[in-house]
Amino acid sequence: MRAMPKLENPVPVEVIGAGYYLPERILTNADLERMVETSDDWIVERTGIHERRIADETMSTSDMAVLAARKALEHAQLAAEDVDMIICATVTPDMMFPSTACLVQRGIEARNAFAFDISAACTGFIYALATAYTYLASGYVGNALIIGAEKLSAITDYKDRNTCVLFGDGAGAVVLKRTGRAGHGIRDFILESDGRNAHWLQVPAGGSRMPASTKSIGERLHYISMEGREVFKFAVTAMKRTTVRIAERNNLKAEEITWLIPHQANKRIIDAAAQALGLDQSHIHYNIHKYGNMSAASTAVGLAEVVLHYNLKEGDYLLLVAFGAGMTWGSLLIRW
Ligand code: UT7
Repeated sequence: MRAMPKLENPVPVEVIGAGYYLPERILTNADLERMVETSDDWIVERTGIHERRIADETMSTSDMAVLAARKALEHAQLAAEDVDMIICATVTPDMMFPSTACLVQRGIEARNAFAFDISAACTGFIYALATAYTYLASGYVGNALIIGAEKLSAITDYKDRNTCVLFGDGAGAVVLKRTGRAGHGIRDFILESDGRNAHWLQVPAGGSRMPASTKSIGERLHYISMEGREVFKFAVTAMKRTTVRIAERNNLKAEEITWLIPHQANKRIIDAAAQALGLDQSHIHYNIHKYGNMSAASTAVGLAEVVLHYNLKEGDYLLLVAFGAGMTWGSLLIRW
């Protein structure tokens, strides 16, 4: 497939603040051994996951997003009322509508912002950053609050061992701002999708095609259904290609990438992408072992962790890569 061309003379759109929230409750592989026929060995060997966080019943996706957003705004030293735009990437919105971004707007009292959601599954946070870049680059807004938040436990079937071992809950947020520092910030992105295999990864019921009914509930159609092996094969190819392509077209060698911040679906998929690039494992940011797959929140929390804890230096390159339902995939390059 062809990718859109590289950004020409990108304007400086930089991350000026980051925050994340993870629920306190931990669901371990040992806990899952008591729920379905699985084993810690199987889960660790096939996925790299040891434990994941689960939000309690009273906490929704927007509640987690609000907590992450408040931290990001505090870190950016930006008042909520000065936020111009809020984008929330999620596949687990609080409701069909209004958007989760509007609920976050209410929660943080960002009364001067406009807000909307993006649905690109696990690639959602990269799609949201890229969308925000275009608003910021055009001058339509001066700053943006970008969130990836998911309560995947709400759509996970804890009777299905094929999927229930994989997913977790959490939220990450960053504040983007157009600055005057030429050569810094978002340098390039590649967004791709292929709807032909939309059925590989989906929640079949609850939308307009199959509204909720006693039958749909009885058949457990409101949970994630996944053709894991197909998704795996696709993911390895897509992640390898988008990672190598964005590095090559920006003339970056593997050793120039400070941190690869990949979607955390499976450690084997992440390692395959890094290997294709020739990137040493010490430059990969993993959080899959402790949080599992949090869909759009995986890269959001990943970026926030790197920004907050890794002592970044001017000129460091951060490369985000992800794939997800749709199918969607993409990459985004930031120069610190
Ligand atoms: O964000 C995007 C969302 N999803 C993904 O990225 C998932 C992509 N897919 C994957 O990561 C992998 O395909 C899985 C981790 C889901 C599965 O790993 P796999 O190595 O592809 O296993 P498999 O599906 O080929 O299954 C191998 C065996 C099967 O048994 P048989 O048919 O060989 O007897 C499964 O029934 O493992 C069995 N199995 C399990 N065994 C223990 C499947 N799930 C489990 C489990 N515990 N939880």
